[in-house]
Amino acid sequence: MKIKQKLKKELSQYSGLKNVVLFSSCRNALYILLKSFELKSTDEVIIQSFICDSLPNAIRLAGGKPVSVDVDSRTLNLNADSVKNKITPQTKAVIFVHTYGNPSGIKEIAEICKKHNLILIEDIAHALGAKCDGRLAGTFGDYAVYSFTKQMINFGGGAILTNHNIDKISLLRDQFRNKGSLLVYIKRLFASLYETRAFFISKILIDIARKKSNLKQTNDLDKHFHCTSIEAYLAFKQLPNLNDLILKKRKNHQFIQNKVNTQKILADCEASHNYLSFIFNEDVESSVITKTSFLFLPPWSGSNISNRIIFMPNNLRFSLRKLKLMVANYHKIYNQTLIINKNGTKQL
Ligand SMILES: Cc1ncc(COP(=O)(O)O)c(C=O)c1O
Repeated sequence: MKIKQKLKKELSQYSGLKNVVLFSSCRNALYILLKSFELKSTDEVIIQSFICDSLPNAIRLAGGKPVSVDVDSRTLNLNADSVKNKITPQTKAVIFVHTYGNPSGIKEIAEICKKHNLILIEDIAHALGAKCDGRLAGTFGDYAVYSFTKQMINFGGGAILTNHNIDKISLLRDQFRNKGSLLVYIKRLFASLYETRAFFISKILIDIARKKSNLKQTNDLDKHFHCTSIEAYLAFKQLPNLNDLILKKRKNHQFIQNKVNTQKILADCEASHNYLSFIFNEDVESSVITKTSFLFLPPWSGSNISNRIIFMPNNLRFSLRKLKLMVANYHKIYNQTLIINKNGTKQL
């Protein structure tokens, strides 16, 4: 069996979803999925405002209208009340992002979508293997979109997983036969290394790249649509380790959670803890924080909550000493920003 067939079978078995279509990335997967719905310009797609720009871009390019909803500040996910308020006769679909690998809130959103007859797309880019009520993230909605570069080391790659028919999706994807550029694969590999292994080296490179280039460009859709055999091979090889990785990441998360205010995970959910998020109570400038410490990255911008969050990948190589350092840094920065706020100045 060819490697792409093997990966599709493995992903299908892992998730319990019948059909899998492979792509160059999660964002391109979402774009083609939305294209398959033949959206009109008035058709609305609800998505959280705390999100990578590539996703609202995919909605726009597919012909629809993204409707932003702020996330629940405790879980960093959509919550039922805010989604209900945004539903109109034009609403076609809801995209639920399992932010940083946390499925909290998905059951309620699935109920609302069922009630209002809306298509539910789950973004499980960070969350393959996460569960809610014993059920895997990605199995609550109609479609799940996945990225091979967030929980795995890879040059790119993504997928749509679903029990629905995929003929139209596959046909649409196959209209595009372009090849990816070498630079895109290299960029993706470094971003993926940062997320998973070589935190310090990749962080330096990412910081340099961010200073030199327009960050928005990295959030564009890919020009190519197909998953390569190497990407499929790497994903296939890493998939069996996913559950073990999640257990190890959970330990890091628990250590941090006992000491600082982090993303709330509801009791019936088991997150994949792909990132360690730190949430500030005060509305402080995340730029001040990220400038002061090498460890942290600014989160997705554009949401009311963006200035209160910092995050980093939940890297398995982080030792207890490093985790303690992160907590100490958090407290130091938090205290500094409190002083700044009291004095009414935002300069350090
Ligand atoms: C939650 C989430 N979904 C999707 C994506 C896009 O994934 P990809 O880079 O595979 O297109 C990102 C990228 O940052 C993301 O954070």
